Formats: sequence, C-alpha cells, structure tokens
Amino acid sequence: MKEYKKVSESETTLTELMIPSYSNFGGKIHGGVILSLMDKVAYVCAAKHTDAYCVTAAIERVDFMAPVEVGDLVSLLASVNYTGTTSLVIGIRVISENIKTHQVKHTNTSYFTMVAFGDDNKPVKVPGLILENHRQAYRFHKGLLRKKLKTKYKSEEVSLVSMDTTGEYKKALKDERCIFQIQG
Ligand SMILES: CC(C)(COP(=O)(O)OP(=O)(O)OC[C@H]1O[C@@H](n2cnc3c(N)ncnc32)[C@H](O)[C@@H]1OP(=O)(O)O)[C@@H](O)C(=O)NCCC(=O)NCCS
Repeated sequence: MKEYKKVSESETTLTELMIPSYSNFGGKIHGGVILSLMDKVAYVCAAKHTDAYCVTAAIERVDFMAPVEVGDLVSLLASVNYTGTTSLVIGIRVISENIKTHQVKHTNTSYFTMVAFGDDNKPVKVPGLILENHRQAYRFHKGLLRKKLKTKYKSEEVSLVSMDTTGEYKKALKDERCIFQIQG
C-alpha cells in the first residue's frame, strides 16, 4: 500500500438511469435507491484509494433536497475528502439530470466513513492524501472538524438525557406534540 495518494487517483463517478421499478407510490425515486448507489460509489472510491476491501462504518447526514424523477440520469460524484489511520471519508455529491431539458438538480451531498480491512480481517492503515489544491485542503480540513464534532456530540449526547426522570421529561417536552401515558 502506498503511503500517500492523490485525490484524483480514486475520484469516481457513477451514473445511473432512474427506471420505473425504482419509484415509490408517489412516482418519485425511493430515497433508499439513492442511498444504495451512494454506498456503492463510496465503496469503489475507497477501494481505489486503499487497494483493500472496505466496509461502511458511518454515514453523515443525508438530506434529500429535491425529488428525483423516473427517467432522470443520476450521477454520484465521489472523492476522498479525509484520511484517518484505518478510516477514510468519502464525500459524495448527487445530481440528477432531466434528459430532455438538461436541467440539473443537486439532490444531496453526504459523507461516508469507510474502514479498510487487511487479509487478516483487521482494520489496516490507509494511504494519506496528497492535497493538490485549495478545495481539497478545504475538504480535508472540514473532514477533520466533522470528526472532532462527532466525538464531542457523542460524549455530550450521552449526558444529555437520563432515562427514568419523568419530571424532567415533562418539563423538557411541555411544548412538544406528545402525551404521557407512562405507567408506574
Ligand atoms: C466499522 C468497524 C470496522 C469499526 O470497528 P472498531 O472495532 O470500532 O474499529 P476501530 O475502533 O479500530 O476503528 C477503526 C476506524 O473506524 C473509525 N470508526 C469506527 N466507527 C466509526 C463511526 N461510527 N463513525 C466514524 N468513524 C468510525 C474509527 O475512528 C477508526 O478510524 P481511524 O483508524 O482512522 O482512527 C466495525 O464497527 C464494523 O465492522 N462495523 C460493521 C461494518 C459493516 O458491516 N458495514 C456495512 C453495513 S451493512
């Protein structure tokens, strides 16, 4: 495995036609279809960077900003944004294009954390990243900040709420749309 690799060595684009069997009852494409394609392109990009078998460890934030229609061409543009020790973050931008009008919509952007595995089935060190322009440096920096935020969020989340203090729930949730029917 190389010690460092360029972003361009693993950049991957996957384009797929949205066929009717991908749609839901409302005639739009299932979010799960897009997620599955994102997982696929993340794997390809991570495997190209690491030359190893990779698994998806986490997916950061998926907001669907615009619906995808049957007949659209969906393209998923993936690149390595950040490299840790055995993990790497793949940034994926998803766009959909109407074939007739060529109108392009940005439907979502998400970040997949992948972990590389060696032949012994244990996480293995991944190549670092050679940053060749400001955009790549910006994305790497953002990846690091997201990782730090996640660690902070995780530790704060644990101490946010305790399980058995009904009085506390009632106070915190007084303006929410819920009714308490907790027995005992
Ligand atoms: C992902 C997995 C390998 C992590 O295992 P682990 O015992 O926590 O391994 P480690 O603690 O050594 O972590 C390995 C790396 O993954 C990162 N990682 C683990 N869980 C993570 C999470 N939830 N979010 C972000 N990064 C994570 C760690 O930070 C570490 O990164 P680094 O080496 O760059 O610092 C393990 O949880 C696993 O196999 N999960 C199932 C993956 C899978 O099957 N995916 C497909 C789902 S269908």
